[in-house]
Amino acid sequence: MKVYSSTINDWINNIHYPSRPIGLYEPIKYMLGGGGKRVRPTLLCASAEAFGLDCERVKNQALAIEMFHNFTLLHDDVMDNADIRHGVPTVHRKWNVPTAILSGDTMLTMAVQLAADTDADCKGAVLDMFNKTSIEIYEGQQYDMNFESETKVSLEEYMEMIRLKTAVLLGAASAIGGMMANAGEENVGSLYKYGEQMGLAFQLRDDYLDTFGDASKFGKAIGGDILNDKKTWLQIRANELSHYTLLNEARQLSGNDKIAFVTGRYRELNVDKECLDLISTYTNNAIGYLDRITGMKPEFREFLTNVASGAIDRQS
Ligand code: IPE
Ligand code: IPE
Ligand code: MG
Ligand code: MG
Ligand code: MG
Repeated sequence: MKVYSSTINDWINNIHYPSRPIGLYEPIKYMLGGGGKRVRPTLLCASAEAFGLDCERVKNQALAIEMFHNFTLLHDDVMDNADIRHGVPTVHRKWNVPTAILSGDTMLTMAVQLAADTDADCKGAVLDMFNKTSIEIYEGQQYDMNFESETKVSLEEYMEMIRLKTAVLLGAASAIGGMMANAGEENVGSLYKYGEQMGLAFQLRDDYLDTFGDASKFGKAIGGDILNDKKTWLQIRANELSHYTLLNEARQLSGNDKIAFVTGRYRELNVDKECLDLISTYTNNAIGYLDRITGMKPEFREFLTNVASGAIDRQS
């Protein structure tokens, strides 16, 4: 991943913003400059180069996907009432909620402008994929919020929710690179599935780190999902194994007591280990889709394998 992230960061640092109003553009620079891992533009660049298209040719689409991703994070932090991201205050805490809404809106539109800024023959297909994916993410985010107040969400419903809110963007990033490099329909389909399966592992790992991670590495407050009654894989599985008592017990508690109680129950019920096994399963599924791809440069098969494997043990 290191191969592309410095190039991507240079591109990000060179984005030109109007000088005024400062209150609109400053939070965008703050959000984008915040030190994300750049996984999605890395996927887009690598899948283009895997089929012989130089990453400079997909620069705008790579920036579009990272701009869009950061727009979703900006609004997600308002929705999740999160105080910290990338180890610093979230935009709505540093500024305020109206600023987070409007700077986020601007990022969304800038992302669409960037996505459309290509003369590649497949511009229409790229935009269709981009727009379809955006709406799926909003659907996923709505399910995520709905599930907070529901008591019995199934693991299947949870997996579909994270496919929508997270996995489809990694799928789209991988597919768009291949599309722009004329990789062919079947290969583009396999690239999409590779990104999607990796995205499922990626969100499971995010949920795991939200409870079991190290805040200084993760860059977000630990226990936020527990405090928000988020339906994570850990919570649904632990609730099942405890014969649906865990949620009721947790709801009597608040703050650090609630985090400590729920975390302890997860460990007793061994759902942390089960979750790690599932992350490996989806990562292997992702890597399996790479085997279906024909005509890809071998060093990129290895690179994309390593990117997917990163979801297994990442700490941030
Ligand atoms: C965070 O995504 C939100 C999820 C979909 C899990 P990342 O973990 O890719 O966030 P950054 O961009 O690296 O901060
Ligand atoms: C975020 O899921 C998914 C999107 C932003 C679309 P989370 O709410 O788990 O992401 P983090 O943990 O705040 O980064
Ligand atoms: Mg969220
Ligand atoms: Mg969140
Ligand atoms: Mg999370």
